[in-house]
Amino acid sequence: MEHYTRFASRAAAWALSAAGIALAACGGTSAAPEVRVATPTSAPATATATPAKSSAVAQTTPPPQSCAAFAQSADPFTLRVVDKQRALPSDYRPTDLQAIDDRWAAPGFPGESMRAAAAGAMVEMLAAAQAQGVELRIRSSFRSYAEQQRTFQFWIDQLGEAQARRESAPPGNSEHQLGTTADVISRSVGWELIIPFGETAEGKWLAAHSTEFGFAISYPPDGEAVTGYIYEPWHVRFIGKPCATEWRASGLVLVKFLERLAATR
Ligand code: DAL
Ligand code: ZN
Repeated sequence: MEHYTRFASRAAAWALSAAGIALAACGGTSAAPEVRVATPTSAPATATATPAKSSAVAQTTPPPQSCAAFAQSADPFTLRVVDKQRALPSDYRPTDLQAIDDRWAAPGFPGESMRAAAAGAMVEMLAAAQAQGVELRIRSSFRSYAEQQRTFQFWIDQLGEAQARRESAPPGNSEHQLGTTADVISRSVGWELIIPFGETAEGKWLAAHSTEFGFAISYPPDGEAVTGYIYEPWHVRFIGKPCATEWRASGLVLVKFLERLAATR
Protein backbone atom coordinates (compact mmCIF):
# COMPACT_ATOMS: atom_id res chain seq x y z
CA MET A 1 0.00 0.00 0.00
CA GLU A 2 1.30 3.40 -0.84
CA HIS A 3 0.22 6.44 1.05
CA TYR A 4 0.31 10.03 0.27
CA THR A 5 0.11 12.73 2.62
CA ARG A 6 -2.34 15.23 3.60
CA PHE A 7 -2.28 18.61 2.07
CA ALA A 8 -5.32 19.72 0.16
CA SER A 9 -3.12 21.99 -1.88
CA ARG A 10 0.39 23.29 -2.26
CA ALA A 11 -0.84 26.53 -0.71
CA ALA A 12 -1.98 24.67 2.39
CA ALA A 13 1.39 22.99 2.66
CA TRP A 14 3.17 26.28 2.39
CA ALA A 15 0.83 27.90 4.90
CA LEU A 16 1.72 25.25 7.46
CA SER A 17 5.36 25.53 6.58
CA ALA A 18 5.28 29.28 6.98
CA ALA A 19 3.58 28.84 10.35
CA GLY A 20 6.53 26.73 11.46
CA ILE A 21 4.55 23.52 11.63
CA ALA A 22 6.45 20.43 10.62
CA LEU A 23 5.29 18.77 7.48
CA ALA A 24 4.59 15.10 6.96
CA ALA A 25 7.33 14.48 4.48
CA CYS A 26 8.08 11.24 6.25
CA GLY A 27 4.83 9.74 4.96
CA GLY A 28 4.72 7.80 1.74
CA THR A 29 3.07 8.50 -1.54
CA SER A 30 0.17 7.23 -3.58
CA ALA A 31 -1.44 7.88 -6.91
CA ALA A 32 -3.97 10.22 -5.31
CA PRO A 33 -2.03 12.38 -2.90
CA GLU A 34 -4.56 15.10 -2.35
CA VAL A 35 -7.36 12.98 -0.95
CA ARG A 36 -8.13 13.77 2.68
CA VAL A 37 -8.24 10.76 4.93
CA ALA A 38 -11.56 9.47 6.19
CA THR A 39 -12.55 9.24 9.83
CA PRO A 40 -13.07 5.73 11.16
CA THR A 41 -16.61 4.79 12.10
CA SER A 42 -15.90 1.91 14.43
CA ALA A 43 -13.50 1.25 17.21
CA PRO A 44 -10.65 -1.11 16.36
CA ALA A 45 -10.79 -4.61 17.69
CA THR A 46 -8.30 -6.00 20.12
CA ALA A 47 -4.87 -7.35 19.34
CA THR A 48 -4.38 -10.28 17.02
CA ALA A 49 -1.13 -11.29 18.63
CA THR A 50 -1.55 -14.51 20.55
CA PRO A 51 0.88 -16.02 23.01
CA ALA A 52 2.86 -18.99 21.80
CA LYS A 53 1.30 -22.35 22.67
CA SER A 54 3.02 -24.11 25.51
CA SER A 55 4.55 -27.46 24.82
CA ALA A 56 5.59 -30.25 27.14
CA VAL A 57 9.26 -29.62 26.49
CA ALA A 58 10.49 -26.09 25.95
CA GLN A 59 12.69 -26.14 22.87
CA THR A 60 12.96 -22.48 22.03
CA THR A 61 16.21 -20.60 22.47
CA PRO A 62 15.89 -17.81 25.01
CA PRO A 63 16.01 -14.34 23.45
CA PRO A 64 19.34 -12.50 23.65
CA GLN A 65 19.73 -10.42 26.78
CA SER A 66 22.38 -7.97 25.59
CA CYS A 67 22.52 -5.82 22.50
CA ALA A 68 25.83 -7.43 21.53
CA ALA A 69 24.22 -10.86 21.68
CA PHE A 70 21.18 -9.62 19.76
CA ALA A 71 23.49 -8.11 17.13
CA GLN A 72 25.19 -11.49 16.71
CA SER A 73 21.87 -13.20 16.13
CA ALA A 74 20.32 -10.53 13.88
CA ASP A 75 20.82 -10.23 10.15
CA PRO A 76 23.05 -7.33 9.02
CA PHE A 77 20.15 -5.09 8.00
CA THR A 78 18.45 -5.01 11.40
CA LEU A 79 21.09 -2.76 12.95
CA ARG A 80 22.51 -1.25 9.79
CA VAL A 81 23.14 2.48 9.63
CA VAL A 82 20.92 4.07 6.99
CA ASP A 83 21.28 7.82 6.67
CA LYS A 84 21.99 10.53 4.12
CA GLN A 85 25.50 9.21 3.51
CA ARG A 86 24.88 5.47 3.79
CA ALA A 87 22.28 4.09 1.39
CA LEU A 88 20.71 0.70 0.96
CA PRO A 89 21.01 -1.12 -2.36
CA SER A 90 18.16 0.00 -4.60
CA ASP A 91 17.03 -3.61 -4.95
CA TYR A 92 17.03 -4.31 -1.21
CA ARG A 93 13.64 -5.56 -0.13
CA PRO A 94 13.20 -7.66 3.01
CA THR A 95 12.06 -11.20 2.33
CA ASP A 96 10.04 -11.58 5.52
CA LEU A 97 7.55 -8.74 5.18
CA GLN A 98 4.36 -9.48 7.05
CA ALA A 99 1.02 -7.79 6.54
CA ILE A 100 -0.29 -5.90 9.56
CA ASP A 101 -4.01 -6.07 10.24
CA ASP A 102 -5.76 -2.90 9.13
CA ARG A 103 -7.20 -2.48 12.60
CA TRP A 104 -3.80 -0.97 13.42
CA ALA A 105 -3.75 1.37 10.41
CA ALA A 106 -4.51 5.06 10.58
CA PRO A 107 -7.75 5.73 8.72
CA GLY A 108 -7.08 6.02 5.00
CA PHE A 109 -3.73 4.21 5.20
CA PRO A 110 -4.47 0.47 5.06
CA GLY A 111 -2.30 -2.38 3.82
CA GLU A 112 0.86 -1.81 5.82
CA SER A 113 3.61 -4.37 6.30
CA MET A 114 6.83 -4.76 8.25
CA ARG A 115 9.46 -7.44 8.71
CA ALA A 116 8.16 -10.27 10.86
CA ALA A 117 9.89 -9.40 14.12
CA ALA A 118 9.13 -5.71 13.76
CA ALA A 119 5.49 -6.39 12.82
CA GLY A 120 5.03 -8.59 15.89
CA ALA A 121 6.62 -5.99 18.16
CA MET A 122 4.55 -3.23 16.59
CA VAL A 123 1.24 -5.03 17.14
CA GLU A 124 2.30 -5.85 20.67
CA MET A 125 3.10 -2.19 21.30
CA LEU A 126 -0.09 -0.82 19.76
CA ALA A 127 -2.17 -3.35 21.71
CA ALA A 128 -0.41 -2.41 24.94
CA ALA A 129 -1.09 1.25 24.26
CA GLN A 130 -4.71 0.50 23.50
CA ALA A 131 -5.05 -1.45 26.76
CA GLN A 132 -3.91 1.71 28.53
CA GLY A 133 -6.41 3.88 26.64
CA VAL A 134 -3.81 5.26 24.23
CA GLU A 135 -4.83 5.10 20.58
CA LEU A 136 -1.84 4.88 18.24
CA ARG A 137 -1.99 3.78 14.61
CA ILE A 138 0.42 3.18 11.74
CA ARG A 139 0.39 5.66 8.92
CA SER A 140 3.33 4.35 6.89
CA SER A 141 5.74 1.47 7.40
CA PHE A 142 7.73 -0.47 4.78
CA ARG A 143 8.41 1.59 1.67
CA SER A 144 10.21 0.16 -1.33
CA TYR A 145 12.95 2.08 -3.10
CA ALA A 146 10.47 3.01 -5.84
CA GLU A 147 7.88 4.17 -3.33
CA GLN A 148 10.45 6.30 -1.55
CA GLN A 149 11.45 7.77 -4.89
CA ARG A 150 7.86 8.89 -5.46
CA THR A 151 7.58 10.15 -1.88
CA PHE A 152 10.74 12.20 -2.11
CA GLN A 153 9.73 13.72 -5.44
CA PHE A 154 6.28 14.52 -4.09
CA TRP A 155 7.88 16.47 -1.25
CA ILE A 156 10.25 18.29 -3.52
CA ASP A 157 7.25 19.37 -5.57
CA GLN A 158 5.40 20.41 -2.43
CA LEU A 159 8.14 22.10 -0.45
CA GLY A 160 11.06 22.77 -2.71
CA GLU A 161 14.20 20.69 -2.58
CA ALA A 162 15.94 22.30 0.40
CA GLN A 163 12.99 21.85 2.78
CA ALA A 164 12.12 18.42 1.37
CA ARG A 165 15.61 17.18 2.18
CA ARG A 166 15.13 18.15 5.84
CA GLU A 167 12.02 15.97 6.06
CA SER A 168 12.20 13.19 3.52
CA ALA A 169 14.97 10.78 2.64
CA PRO A 170 16.11 10.30 -0.94
CA PRO A 171 15.41 6.81 -2.35
CA GLY A 172 17.84 4.28 -0.90
CA ASN A 173 18.46 6.46 2.15
CA SER A 174 15.24 5.84 4.04
CA GLU A 175 14.98 3.59 7.09
CA HIS A 176 11.49 2.78 5.82
CA GLN A 177 13.10 0.60 3.11
CA LEU A 178 14.43 -1.65 5.88
CA GLY A 179 10.91 -2.82 6.71
CA THR A 180 11.58 -2.26 10.41
CA THR A 181 10.47 1.35 10.58
CA ALA A 182 7.05 2.93 10.88
CA ASP A 183 5.36 6.26 11.36
CA VAL A 184 2.97 5.93 14.30
CA ILE A 185 0.41 8.65 14.86
CA SER A 186 -2.81 9.57 16.66
CA ARG A 187 -6.29 10.88 16.13
CA SER A 188 -5.47 13.79 18.44
CA VAL A 189 -3.40 15.39 15.67
CA GLY A 190 -5.82 14.37 12.91
CA TRP A 191 -3.52 11.47 11.96
CA GLU A 192 -1.06 14.03 10.61
CA LEU A 193 2.70 13.68 10.94
CA ILE A 194 3.30 16.95 12.71
CA ILE A 195 5.72 17.89 15.47
CA PRO A 196 2.96 18.73 18.04
CA PHE A 197 2.29 14.96 18.13
CA GLY A 198 5.30 14.77 20.43
CA GLU A 199 3.40 16.80 23.04
CA THR A 200 0.21 14.73 22.93
CA ALA A 201 -0.54 11.96 25.42
CA GLU A 202 -0.03 9.46 22.60
CA GLY A 203 3.27 10.95 21.49
CA LYS A 204 4.51 10.98 25.08
CA TRP A 205 3.42 7.37 25.53
CA LEU A 206 5.34 6.38 22.39
CA ALA A 207 8.46 8.20 23.57
CA ALA A 208 8.23 6.66 27.03
CA HIS A 209 7.35 3.07 26.12
CA SER A 210 8.53 2.26 22.58
CA THR A 211 11.91 0.98 23.79
CA GLU A 212 10.11 -1.66 25.88
CA PHE A 213 8.99 -3.17 22.58
CA GLY A 214 12.34 -2.79 20.82
CA PHE A 215 11.81 0.53 19.03
CA ALA A 216 13.91 3.69 18.93
CA ILE A 217 12.88 7.17 17.79
CA SER A 218 15.40 7.91 15.05
CA TYR A 219 15.06 11.69 14.76
CA PRO A 220 14.97 13.42 18.15
CA PRO A 221 14.34 17.07 18.96
CA ASP A 222 17.38 19.20 18.20
CA GLY A 223 18.97 16.30 16.33
CA GLU A 224 19.08 17.82 12.89
CA ALA A 225 22.77 18.67 13.05
CA VAL A 226 23.46 14.95 13.55
CA THR A 227 20.69 13.28 11.57
CA GLY A 228 20.02 15.86 8.87
CA TYR A 229 16.30 15.62 9.64
CA ILE A 230 13.84 17.59 11.70
CA TYR A 231 12.32 16.12 14.87
CA GLU A 232 10.02 13.23 13.94
CA PRO A 233 8.30 12.04 17.14
CA TRP A 234 6.30 9.53 15.07
CA HIS A 235 9.18 7.72 13.29
CA VAL A 236 10.24 4.57 15.16
CA ARG A 237 12.71 1.90 14.08
CA PHE A 238 12.81 -1.63 15.49
CA ILE A 239 16.27 -2.55 16.78
CA GLY A 240 15.26 -5.31 19.22
CA LYS A 241 14.56 -4.98 22.92
CA PRO A 242 18.14 -5.38 24.21
CA CYS A 243 19.49 -2.77 21.79
CA ALA A 244 16.59 -0.39 22.37
CA THR A 245 17.23 -0.59 26.10
CA GLU A 246 20.94 0.08 25.63
CA TRP A 247 20.23 2.82 23.10
CA ARG A 248 18.03 4.66 25.60
CA ALA A 249 20.62 4.31 28.36
CA SER A 250 23.33 5.62 26.03
CA GLY A 251 21.58 8.94 25.45
CA LEU A 252 22.92 8.88 21.90
CA VAL A 253 21.10 9.80 18.72
CA LEU A 254 20.21 6.46 17.11
CA VAL A 255 22.56 6.81 14.17
CA LYS A 256 25.47 7.42 16.54
CA PHE A 257 24.49 4.43 18.67
CA LEU A 258 24.35 2.18 15.60
CA GLU A 259 27.69 3.50 14.38
CA ARG A 260 29.28 2.70 17.73
CA LEU A 261 27.69 -0.74 17.75
CA ALA A 262 28.98 -1.47 14.24
CA ALA A 263 32.49 -0.44 15.31
CA THR A 264 32.49 -2.99 18.13
CA ARG A 265 31.14 -5.91 16.12
N1 DAL B 1 11.20 11.11 6.94
C1 DAL B 1 12.29 10.16 6.94
C2 DAL B 1 13.60 10.87 7.07
C3 DAL B 1 12.24 9.28 5.72
O1 DAL B 1 11.75 9.75 4.68
O2 DAL B 1 12.72 8.17 5.80
ZN1 ZN C 1 9.15 7.80 8.98
